[in-house]
Amino acid sequence: MSLLVKGGTVVGPTGTRVADVLVEGEKIVAVLDPSFTPTITANEVIDASGKYVIPGGIDAHTHMEMPFGGTSASDTFDTGTRAAAYGGTTTIIDFAIQRTGEVVQDGLAAWRAKTEGECHIDYAFHMILGGVDTDALKAMDQLVADEGITSFKLFMAYPGVFYSDDGQILRAMQTARANGAMIMMHAENGIAIDVLVQQALERGETDPIYHGITRPAALEAEATNRAIALAEVAQDCPLYIVHLSASQALAKVAEARDAGRNVFAETCPQYLYLTLEDQLGAPGFEGAKWVCSTPLRSKHESHARDLWKGLRSNDLAIVSTDHCPFCMKDQKEMGIGDFSKIPNGIGGVEHRVDLIFQGVVDGHLSLERWVETIATTPARMFGLYPQKGIVQPGSDADLVIYDPNGTTRIGVETHHMNMDYSAYEGVEIQGRVGTVISRGEVIVADGNYHGRKGRGKFLKRGLSSYLM
Ligand code: URP
Ligand code: ZN
Ligand code: ZN
Repeated sequence: MSLLVKGGTVVGPTGTRVADVLVEGEKIVAVLDPSFTPTITANEVIDASGKYVIPGGIDAHTHMEMPFGGTSASDTFDTGTRAAAYGGTTTIIDFAIQRTGEVVQDGLAAWRAKTEGECHIDYAFHMILGGVDTDALKAMDQLVADEGITSFKLFMAYPGVFYSDDGQILRAMQTARANGAMIMMHAENGIAIDVLVQQALERGETDPIYHGITRPAALEAEATNRAIALAEVAQDCPLYIVHLSASQALAKVAEARDAGRNVFAETCPQYLYLTLEDQLGAPGFEGAKWVCSTPLRSKHESHARDLWKGLRSNDLAIVSTDHCPFCMKDQKEMGIGDFSKIPNGIGGVEHRVDLIFQGVVDGHLSLERWVETIATTPARMFGLYPQKGIVQPGSDADLVIYDPNGTTRIGVETHHMNMDYSAYEGVEIQGRVGTVISRGEVIVADGNYHGRKGRGKFLKRGLSSYLM
């Protein structure tokens, strides 16, 4: 089966050009100057003139069905990967979990079982280590060598749940330095945060906004700095700071990168568009919709502006969603009267490609940087390149035909995520995902779904392309 995507403007990390993209089966076989293609025949031709043709989005940070705070994230691998496809994301990297006391490989097997036959798009895993001990360190080697799991997330937050102390972090980093894996860090000082949370509750400060107030930027910056220092001691172990939200934390990453260190970071759309005052501080319990960690930051400070700048300068390499949705009903509501019981997370897997395109429209990023931060760099960072993340011969035919003249209005009535509200209700995007192609198959066309559950394949990943 062959497919010709004709006359579109192909956007890659290094430039844009009008070109025809020829697909055979699941692979791109040629990217041609249109003057060469009149002689080429294909089973199906899609006219992409006036539109951008970009590599399928790669969301390197999602949590489908994640157990958290006495409930589970409301998107299953079925509903969440279908919603991702609607939004132009054709690969997710989700997190398998080892809880304290569990065998790492058992955690991985549980996530393999959850995903089997469920996903609409291709998927891979990072591994969350909730209990770093000698067995877990050995398991890291085995996962890298045999399972295609080459990145491990540790938590400096959530004491008693996923938290690792500095000694555990150092040992995991030393292991990663030796086997080539990436350490991903949730960088917030959880021990200090728990004191602030307790003090706030004792003062009767129970509304959702106190979730943000008790997780100050200084404690994100402190943990980021500590993680960078520990990685330095571990012979410059590769370190990737997840969901970075504060200017002060970004400054620590920039300083390390300027010194030539193996330090990388991502941010998420919620930190670029939403704020402590306008969303988390919404009246009554409404702010619970935006409880996530790291938290939304103050609009009276320069966080969002600095994050866009960080994306331009590559101090922030990637935009992921940290998609971890919970419904208001029965889930977020668990925290009425006590913000610390609100499950942490925001859903957005469907909107990342659009929201970052809006950053192009608004003059924050170039077209090339849009593609780089949502597709090419995630592929390179997490060992999927050049199979994924680029429109070139030999790569998987994961393509999005994006219409810069279309519009998208985000809202709960139209989204496909399993959430009873939208974190971005009413936001207008000056652009629209048109056609989504996953390994040569059209799965979304003009808002209609043609994919199916179970077609997504598990991807074994290699080491990061950015390793030094
Ligand atoms: O609030 C968040 N981020 N929930 C998901 C878990 C995590 O820390 O990434
Ligand atoms: Zn986290
Ligand atoms: Zn996360």
